[in-house]
Amino acid sequence: MNNNKRITAATLKRAKQAEEKMVWLTAYDAISAQIAEAAGAEVLLVGDSLGMVSLGFDSTIPVTLDHMIHHTAAVVRGRNTAWVVCDLPFGSYQQSPEQAFAASVRVLQQTGCDAVKLEGGEHMAATIEFLSERGIAVIAHIGLTPQSVKKFGSYGKRGKDKAGRLQLINDAHAVSAAGAIAIVLENIPADLASEITAQLDTATIGIGAGKDCDAQVLVWNDLLGISETNPPFAPAYANVRTIMSDAIKRWSNDVKSGQFPKS
Ligand code: KIV
Repeated sequence: MNNNKRITAATLKRAKQAEEKMVWLTAYDAISAQIAEAAGAEVLLVGDSLGMVSLGFDSTIPVTLDHMIHHTAAVVRGRNTAWVVCDLPFGSYQQSPEQAFAASVRVLQQTGCDAVKLEGGEHMAATIEFLSERGIAVIAHIGLTPQSVKKFGSYGKRGKDKAGRLQLINDAHAVSAAGAIAIVLENIPADLASEITAQLDTATIGIGAGKDCDAQVLVWNDLLGISETNPPFAPAYANVRTIMSDAIKRWSNDVKSGQFPKS
């Protein structure tokens, strides 16, 4: 590994100042980390979307700290220069700053990753500050926060009315002032994301939040066309599900017909 090329928290800051867009992508294992990094992903996010795209859960709520540690350690083994961020899963940090600190210490010590991400705005600011003051790089995630799906009842767009917009602006300022290194803005109006991005020195990472965010992130399975369906804001750039399925079908037919193996 060439340490000079390693992405760090300082790289994110510099990129924001230089108005250089950064590329984030989710990854869940060593091979996806290798492929993503070699193809230009600068930050690998081990999202708790893991639960839905790889582990077969119908939300992110059942994902545990052990799941996240297992997969994040694999991503770290596969990366070379990318910055690796691990999602703190539901229930591992909301109770208190001390609980969040204990979960973050486990993640950082047992995986070797670089930062943790947690969902929540103003109400999580004290926790972000507690972690940040203790030397932990924290990414905040506001807007659509999938761990709260049971409370909101849908994965729909957030910040559509005046009160929602104001709340998100306050959330962004609160987590930024608390020391968040970057803020994921998920599924919010593009003009609101643009306003937040312009107001803050902290980098914004958009997913369904328009083109003005400082960086963009997508879920691996959505980008590659592995998911059965994609959210409207996540276009598939390939149809890997069909490619995999066709290969398996052809091999299966060859086995059935005695064409495989050749001898
Ligand atoms: O869990 C995840 O993959 C995420 C991204 C959608 C930002 O949080």
